[in-house]
Amino acid sequence: MEMVKTMGETKWDILYDPKKKSLFSRIEEFAINTYFSDVFVKAILSASKIKSGKIFEPGSGGGMACAKFAQKGFEIISMDLSENALKKGKELFNFLSLDGKFTLGDLFNLPIKNNQFDVVFNQGVMEHFRLAKMDAPAGVKEMMRVLKKDGTLVILVPAYFSPLYFIYKFFKFFNLLEKYWPYTDQDFLHKHELYQMMQKAGCKNITVRRLWSSFFFSMIGYCKKIDEDE
Ligand SMILES: C[S@@+](CC[C@H](N)C(=O)[O-])C[C@H]1O[C@@H](n2cnc3c(N)ncnc32)[C@H](O)[C@@H]1O
Repeated sequence: MEMVKTMGETKWDILYDPKKKSLFSRIEEFAINTYFSDVFVKAILSASKIKSGKIFEPGSGGGMACAKFAQKGFEIISMDLSENALKKGKELFNFLSLDGKFTLGDLFNLPIKNNQFDVVFNQGVMEHFRLAKMDAPAGVKEMMRVLKKDGTLVILVPAYFSPLYFIYKFFKFFNLLEKYWPYTDQDFLHKHELYQMMQKAGCKNITVRRLWSSFFFSMIGYCKKIDEDE
């Protein structure tokens, strides 16, 4: 395993600092580890229809979905803005004796050449940009750039009117967000919002749907890269 380069501290480093971990983050991590990462991996493999190859996750956090792919024999490149997140992912890979590459980097400016991967995906990342006034389609475009021709882009985000949405609203109503919710820029996407984010990035033949197997928590969007120049 290798750490490619280093950057300064981000708000995500604080989130992934083991000493500052909130109860919500612990519950979320437990749920993703024990159930949701399997659901995400199945959905990604069903969208991409591949059995081997190179998979890249920009915004990999603790690397739980990446670890599931590595266990299935895929070549994994895990990237995050946060050194603490990458550290956590590396620890998980070491604990499970898995191989993978870990890169520190920004998905809006990927430190990677064009046309490299069979699948580029992320989960729980692209919903953090709109409220922070960042251009999410520009990030999607970068993800498309590093996909091989015929490779698959998959984006998973929390869905509007999902169970998490109602929990979020409850916390918001009782002014508990600041104390208990780990994300200041949380967004829940309608189907058409994820579709438009991908369309603005130049994606074609896009499919967006609710992921029933995630108990409606997630919206999944995917498409193939048709041309090498996309
Ligand atoms: C809510 S976490 C989700 C992590 C993981 N995908 C999961 O499902 O557990 C969002 C992750 O995206 C990362 N992130 C946010 N902005 C990023 C950016 N511009 N480039 C790369 N990673 C980013 C954060 O550091 C964080 O690890």
